Amino acid sequence: MQFAVITSGGDAPGMNACVRAIVRQSIYMHHEVWGVLRGYHGLLEGHRRRLGLGSVADVIKTGGTFLRTARCLPFLNEEGQEMGRDRLREWGIDGLLVVGGDGSLRGALALHGLGIPVIGIPASIDNDIYGTDYAIGFDTAINNVTQSMDKIRDTASSHERIFVIEVMGRESGAIAIASGVAGGAETILIPEVPVNYRAMITRIKRSRARGKRHSLIVVAEGAAAGEDVTRLIEAETGYEVRLIILGHTQRGGPPTAMDRILASQLGTYGVQLLAEGKSGVMVGWQHGTLVTTPIDVVVNTRKDPDLELAQLASILSI
Ligand code: ADP
Ligand code: F6P
Repeated sequence: MQFAVITSGGDAPGMNACVRAIVRQSIYMHHEVWGVLRGYHGLLEGHRRRLGLGSVADVIKTGGTFLRTARCLPFLNEEGQEMGRDRLREWGIDGLLVVGGDGSLRGALALHGLGIPVIGIPASIDNDIYGTDYAIGFDTAINNVTQSMDKIRDTASSHERIFVIEVMGRESGAIAIASGVAGGAETILIPEVPVNYRAMITRIKRSRARGKRHSLIVVAEGAAAGEDVTRLIEAETGYEVRLIILGHTQRGGPPTAMDRILASQLGTYGVQLLAEGKSGVMVGWQHGTLVTTPIDVVVNTRKDPDLELAQLASILSI
């Protein structure tokens, strides 16, 4: 059989490890694999590369995606999706693996609906994809943020300052919650819960009164602008506050061991399912087991934030 793999949407550390697993598992099973370049954009443009065993040498440890990625507006329309289907048929592709986030999986669902055998593989640092406990890239991102928080804590405590740390997550507080707990944040603001500024200010003042001289406040970008939170704390408390926006540093760098293992397992499982003739499902990891979930369920179900974990951060940072 001939398989193709696409990495699409926001890049996530571990995407390369996943492509490596897809290539090696396919060749192990005597199938051929093609890499589509620059996501759905490359599909429409007809850009692809044959992937042999050696083409994925050394990529297990690299962040980003060597297949590149892109956002492709024409693929949002039926016409673009039909062009994608036609391209895959022209190439004689028997099955496609889509490695990406929610938007990419919606594209995968469209191709499945047009008769292309498709398997989805969740990869997004936001970890907001239903059907898997972890998406590829999340563990690396929260480790990146935690390392940054450790560094910020050194200077925050030396100068007795408050730091507002803005992290990624336009619609998801997963990075903020996990790294907030791991980095010892005093307050975590997430998009899924209305921001309670009064509670935040009260906490800061109370902890100062008890002798705590510095605080780390983690803000997911979708909850509030870090700049606004910083100005507000300054105005309300009179303390010295600094802002750091971690931005895309969160998304880069070598994947953690956890992300490499997850990517290897999900990629391998995806190939096995395609070879068995399965389509329209996303592979995932739930409670220590590899699972599948129909992609239409994945993209139409909201993944709830772990509010208990967020609560833990608040208790432990008193
Ligand atoms: P992510 O996969 O990280 O969520 P995007 O939301 O940007 O990233 O989606 C990546 C690409 O997937 C888009 O540029 C577009 O080509 C395709 N896509 C997104 N949403 C849809 C949709 N509803 N239907 C078909 N394709 C989509
Ligand atoms: O990968 C998801 C994500 O990191 C979001 O948290 C963030 O808002 C967005 O992508 C930014 O991506 P870009 O700068 O590529 O548009």
